[in-house]
Parts: sequence; structure tokens; C-alpha cells
Amino acid sequence: MNKTRVLTGITTTGTPHLGNYVGAIKPAIEASQDPNVRSYYFLADLHALIKSQDPQRIRDSRLEIAATWLALGLDTDNAVFYRQSDIPEIPELTWLLSCVCAKGLMNRAHAYKAAVAENEAAGNQDPDKGVTMGLFGYPVLMAADILMFNAHKVPVGRDQVQHLEMARDIAGRFNHLYRGEYFTAPQAVVDEHVEVLGGLDGRKMSKSYNNTIPLFVSEKKLLKLIRKIKTNSLEPGQPKDPQGCTIFQIYRAFATREQSEAMRRRYVEGIGWGDAKNELFELLNAQLRDPRERYQALMEDPAYIERVLAKGAEKARAEAAPFMDRLRQVVGLGRFV
Ligand code: TRP
Repeated sequence: MNKTRVLTGITTTGTPHLGNYVGAIKPAIEASQDPNVRSYYFLADLHALIKSQDPQRIRDSRLEIAATWLALGLDTDNAVFYRQSDIPEIPELTWLLSCVCAKGLMNRAHAYKAAVAENEAAGNQDPDKGVTMGLFGYPVLMAADILMFNAHKVPVGRDQVQHLEMARDIAGRFNHLYRGEYFTAPQAVVDEHVEVLGGLDGRKMSKSYNNTIPLFVSEKKLLKLIRKIKTNSLEPGQPKDPQGCTIFQIYRAFATREQSEAMRRRYVEGIGWGDAKNELFELLNAQLRDPRERYQALMEDPAYIERVLAKGAEKARAEAAPFMDRLRQVVGLGRFV
């Protein structure tokens, strides 16, 4: 049977927060339970080196992200869960793809263009100031991640759609130059319905704004952070608008429809901000209590996580290694006999 292959990577530079959970982790874990799908989820730690040269941060983030996905119930018998850096075929494929990828295509990448625009705005002599080859070639590494497993669907945020177009472009160019259908054209999947949660200051919850609520902080810290969410100065008893309210938005992302409706009525009736925050805490804490315990146990057992990832790498390489052998032949790097 030919299953649909769904693949996505998580860059390992931060600590998973509520926004990551609602926007990416939860839908991915649910999708991996579909028997018609073969899921590939990986820690994009080679990509992380582009953004951070802090080894401790990268190490911690990889462990935290792996523990988070496992604590939330990712079934690793079903999904292929691995670390990008455990698959040496990926950087190898990156090179083959780099050699067919037009430099001009990379010139048009949003992340690179933004860096150049910033340099120009700052009046820098060198428009490429601070741009590494890693950043410039980022989309080629990402294409290798995807094309290595011939993924059909790639769930990503809107900011990654261009990278998927580039992966298709590179795949097509390789297929054309070497006259064969080696690579499948991948499709970006952007979930229009998924909530982009607000953070403590009301802006989008993001590690770059430093306004996140990490998923697995202690109960005490969770309450403390929820109390910090910015609100307006309406008093208890005054009607409040749930629309555009960060507390309500986070509440709704975790609540049943009935719970959300009840909370909406309480807003109209003038619930006080203190009470709204307590309700949000109770709802989140009830759902996070068990996975938080599993997370803490996993964080104390990195050897177990290492074993899970080793098994994942074995599964991934069982596909990647023979495919890479074939591609080596295709470009003329096969053995003589
Ligand atoms: N670039 C993606 C991000 O920042 C992470 C990523 C790396 C990825 N390789 C991938 C996503 C392959 C999908 C497929 O979100």
C-alpha cells in the first residue's frame, strides 16, 4: 500500500511553548495516528546551527523538543521520529542539490532578502554583512530534508511556503538534468484554521519576542506567567470583549466548544481579569499535568530519549541510505564495479 508521506522539521533553538503546541505539535501528533499516513518528524538541528552558535542552547533545545513530543504521546512505532544530524545522507544530498540549484533562486529567498534589506537600510557597505553560507543555502538543506523521503505533504507555517516552492523547483531541475523521476514534488500544507496564539504582551507568541508561556513550566510558574498576560483596565462587572483578548484566545484553543461558549458569556457578564486568568490556569493545568510529569521523567532519562532517536534514525536511514546510493550512481559517483 502506498501511504501518503507527511514530513516536517522542528528547528531546535528554543523551548516549546503553548503557541507551538496549538499550532504545530498537537495537529502533527494527531495526524500521525492516521493509518493512511506515514509521518516523518525530525529535529532540524543542522538548521539550528544557522541561527545559533551556542552549543548548550542547541543541546538543551534538542532534548526539550524530543521530550515534549514524546510526553505528548507521539507514537514512535507509527511515526519516524529522528534527529537530522543522525542522517549523514541529508548533508550529502544537500551537496548534490546545491550543484543543480541556481544561485539566483537563493537570492530571492525571503530570509536572505530580509537580511540584505536590513543591511541596506542601515547603510552598510556590504549588503551581505552577517549573512553566512548556511543562511544563504538554508532552502537547499530544507529541500534535501524533504526530497530525501519523497514527502508528499509538508505542514509548515506561512513563512515557509516559499521554501517548499524552492524544493519543488530544485527537484524538477534535478529530475530534468538527470532524466528521471527521482524526486516527488512536495506540497506545502498551511492550516488556515490553526490559531496563532498571542503572548504575554499581546503580540504573537514567539521566542523572538520573549513573550512565551513554555508548555511544561511548573504549576507555580504557569500561574505566575498567566497572571502576567497584559489586559486592559476594565473592572470586574464591566462587560468585556472576548474578541482579540489573549486570555480568551488561549482559553478557546484548549477548551471544548461548550466551555468556550460559557466563557464568552462570562466575558459579556463582566468577569474580572483575575478570575478569567484563574479559569485559564485551571483549564491548562488540568490538561498539562500528566504530560508535564512524563516530560520531567523523560528529561531525567536522556539515555531513553537517545534510544528512541537511535531507532528513529535507523528507520530513516533504511530509506535514506539506499536512495542516496542510487543518487550517487545517477550523478556519476557510483562505484566502478
Ligand atoms: N525551516 C523550518 C522552520 O523554520 C524547519 C524545517 C527544516 C523544516 N527542515 C524542514 C520544515 C523540512 C519542513 C520540512 O519552521
